[in-house]
Amino acid sequence: MSKKRDLSELGKKVIYQIYPKSFYDSNDDGIGDIRGIIAKIDYLISLNIDMIWFNPFFISPQNDNGYDIADYYNIDSVFGTMDDFEELVAKLRANHIGVMLDMVFNHCSTSHQWFQKALAGNQKYQNYFYIRSTRKDGSLPTNWQSKFGGPAWSKFGNTDKFYLHLYDPTQADLDWHNPDVRYEAANIINFWQKKGVTGFRFDVFNVTGKSETLVNSNGDETAEKKLYTDTPIVHKYLHELNRASFGQDSQIITVGEMSSTTIANSIDYTNPKNQELSMVFTFHHLKVDYKNGDKWQTIPFDFMKLKELLFSWQESLDKGHGWNALFWNNHDQPRALSRFCNTQTYRIQSAQMLATAIQLLRGTPFIYQGEEIGMLNPDYTSIEEYVDVETKNAYHILQKSGFSENDAFLAVKQKSRDNSRTPMQWTAAKYAGFSHNKPWLASTNQDTINVAAELDHGKIFKFYQKLIALRKSEPLISDGHIMPLLRDDQRVFAYSRYLADSALVVLTNFYDKTTTIELPSKYKRRHGSVILSNYNRTLGELPRVLTLKPYESLVFKFS
Ligand code: NOJ
Repeated sequence: MSKKRDLSELGKKVIYQIYPKSFYDSNDDGIGDIRGIIAKIDYLISLNIDMIWFNPFFISPQNDNGYDIADYYNIDSVFGTMDDFEELVAKLRANHIGVMLDMVFNHCSTSHQWFQKALAGNQKYQNYFYIRSTRKDGSLPTNWQSKFGGPAWSKFGNTDKFYLHLYDPTQADLDWHNPDVRYEAANIINFWQKKGVTGFRFDVFNVTGKSETLVNSNGDETAEKKLYTDTPIVHKYLHELNRASFGQDSQIITVGEMSSTTIANSIDYTNPKNQELSMVFTFHHLKVDYKNGDKWQTIPFDFMKLKELLFSWQESLDKGHGWNALFWNNHDQPRALSRFCNTQTYRIQSAQMLATAIQLLRGTPFIYQGEEIGMLNPDYTSIEEYVDVETKNAYHILQKSGFSENDAFLAVKQKSRDNSRTPMQWTAAKYAGFSHNKPWLASTNQDTINVAAELDHGKIFKFYQKLIALRKSEPLISDGHIMPLLRDDQRVFAYSRYLADSALVVLTNFYDKTTTIELPSKYKRRHGSVILSNYNRTLGELPRVLTLKPYESLVFKFS
């Protein structure tokens, strides 16, 4: 039996996320590629990260930017060749950087041969999908809505049946009750593992939890999601997959993207004794600026809710021996800096503060490309500039629901997934040094925010380097327990990380105003030193009362 992974080992790792389409374009076709990533390896090494998660670069029609996979075993020619991929793995490995691939197993592209064979009448492959007849009254098999808008069912070829797609109509849901589907998934993982891949991210894995019999919802979105999300059978699928593939090697790192999951389930997914996953991505903390749970209706972010969510997940996973993936940004989220902070005046301080707040929590931090140089949302002025399928659908649906054209535009401008998908800004050049040709998505603020300027005189990249170095050298960060501090404070997110006889305190001011805090009187520890500060603060002792500057972050270690 394989050795189980030690959580503290996971606590020393930092994972960087690359969106290949937007990282670096080596052949000037306007789209990033694998050789482009190889060209930038020195930059990645200088950050001292341990692993890179790559969004999918498998063969795909790209209707959902690669999350519609047509062949899980090959690289799409837009991104390069298998030889390029093998070179990338070897070069990263030589520099102690692992490769994490994105496994999209809830659905595949309707161009995949499984779906094409099903369409041609092959029963074996029809059983890979949810293909159902209409109800007696002629209506769709269920009333479920696709997450990208519209009904979750589309007509199955020329038949009178329909197939399920929780996302775009070109992303057909796979039926995980079918052991053949589960066998295919394990084979795919084993194939990439043999190529030297040591990490896997599982896309929206917990929506595989559908019942065999699909039933109508009462029309309420939350109730509808519960019919197929995060159900007990997902644990069975994961355990089986773990045993049949990645779990046989204790060095493999896995992360499951878990939609609307619970704390209890997240503990079960990640407690090593259950042999499921190393960690999970959860999203509750990024919904704190949704009005009534609706992503497109933006409200100022609810700081107290954000704190409470982070604290409750941290404390519970600590007690339950679960493990958190820690992140603010990814390819589906607008940039956290643009979302939560006053970047007009305090872009640098707030970037450093956000990084401190999330990265020193208990778990494994993920950094999304461009975060380490403080990239912001682009400033687009027309819907034509957006590419994302979800964004375009939302723009129309919002107008149908009564939004004016302008309000619909403002909503997508704030929340579109394209906000984070803009090309990596390498230089101040016309196309941000990403390509010599017009990129597939435009950049708008590279004149001031770019890697060249940042490495020359910037303060954010260096701060990330310090944070990463601290995680690797400080057991309080990699292994420590968590204790929330100042729970009721309206501006400061603060916590302590502690082990038997040592502790550190992390203080982060989330606002552009100075604010005074008072540490609880039971908090006896005083002497020590500042190990990280974004205002160059030095202290030999942590005073009970302290005034924090706008977006100040301070990490104090007791001696
Ligand atoms: C989650 C991915 O992160 C997102 O980009 C994609 O659209 C959906 N899953 C569907 O695969």
